[in-house]
Amino acid sequence: MDDPERSVDADRLWRDIERTGEFGATVSEPERRGRTAPTGSEANGAARDYLRDRMNEAGLSVDVDAVGNVRGRWVPDGADPERAAVAAGSHLDSVPEGGIFDGPLGVYAALEAVRAMQDAGVRPGRPVEVVSFTGEEGSRFGGGLVGSSVATGKRGVEETLALTDDDGVTLADALGGVGYRGEGRLDAAAWDAWIELHVEQHTRLEETGARAGVVTDITGITHVHATVEGAADHAGSTPMADRTDALAAAADVIGAVEDGAREEAADGGTAVGTVGSLSVEPDATNVVPGRVDLGVDLRDVERASVDRTLAALEESLSRVETERGVETSTERSIDLDPTPTSERVRAALREAAGAADVEALDTHSGAAHDTMHVADVTDAGLLFAPSRDGVSHSPREWTSRTDCAAATRVLTGALWRLGD
Ligand code: CO
Repeated sequence: MDDPERSVDADRLWRDIERTGEFGATVSEPERRGRTAPTGSEANGAARDYLRDRMNEAGLSVDVDAVGNVRGRWVPDGADPERAAVAAGSHLDSVPEGGIFDGPLGVYAALEAVRAMQDAGVRPGRPVEVVSFTGEEGSRFGGGLVGSSVATGKRGVEETLALTDDDGVTLADALGGVGYRGEGRLDAAAWDAWIELHVEQHTRLEETGARAGVVTDITGITHVHATVEGAADHAGSTPMADRTDALAAAADVIGAVEDGAREEAADGGTAVGTVGSLSVEPDATNVVPGRVDLGVDLRDVERASVDRTLAALEESLSRVETERGVETSTERSIDLDPTPTSERVRAALREAAGAADVEALDTHSGAAHDTMHVADVTDAGLLFAPSRDGVSHSPREWTSRTDCAAATRVLTGALWRLGD
């Protein structure tokens, strides 16, 4: 019996990631690989079939729940099947023209961890489960994190199956079309612990030379839709003094969001604030804008910081009401608190990194992941592998074979420690 992290097979892992990248491939060049595999697409179905085959090959029993979450379960010889499992995984779906690592790395690293434990002759005392959640990316159904929201009881099965895409196709039909509408509900609360390995989508690891990132907090996300109402008027015949220009007022608001987030981000803070969408009515060059809708995205690992930026936004809205005579309103469509990861899982990851001789850095996640939901129902950890230039959701997304394997060795050691 050997330490299982030594049995991680970099080539076997790489082959699985590359093969998954062939389904829905958009670009296939050396170190530049793209794919389009939204939930329920033919490419997503093929990627799921490939995973099921690899799970069967490794002796896992595979099941699919009502919303298409795939689980492969390994009950090692001598393990108590009644004990709560340790689980790991990620997602197989992608954004349009996304990369090949975002999602598949975490799924296949989890499977490789099981194969490495088997090869090393290691027998954890708990079952080990490998999971691919449905619809992590928000590009087709329900704004993302779909499968994990059901597995954590935050969204009901029926309402989830009724979600529709832009063409009116339901999730139920999309999953049925590729043969992945199963039964029951994967229950994340039944796990003793969960770990997701994901690409960093940032440059902190690259900058420090660390090969793995142990995430301490996952950012909170708040989305605010703000409306600024003025009066549409003739751009030629309305004197400057008589205007109520909604876009000029909105420009002040955009500046206030940026200033607020910049202030929070000063001195090494992690806040970000973005006005990423704007719609102007009537949107004509010769008309004073009468109405503007703004989409605001605020994130930080500290709730208080998000609240301060929100206050700066509200303050700027009341200022333009007073100073410019417009009317404003706001609505929060998303308001998720930051999520700390489990200290117990972090400790297992750090210990595993030490044993595998992989330099690991404590960091935070600025992007949402399924682990955000899982962390609410059980001990959950998130591990990052370096992303070249921090790029993701693009064919330029890249993590080297060596880096994929190094992070997978850390995952394997941590699962083994937690599964004992
Ligand atoms: Co992802």
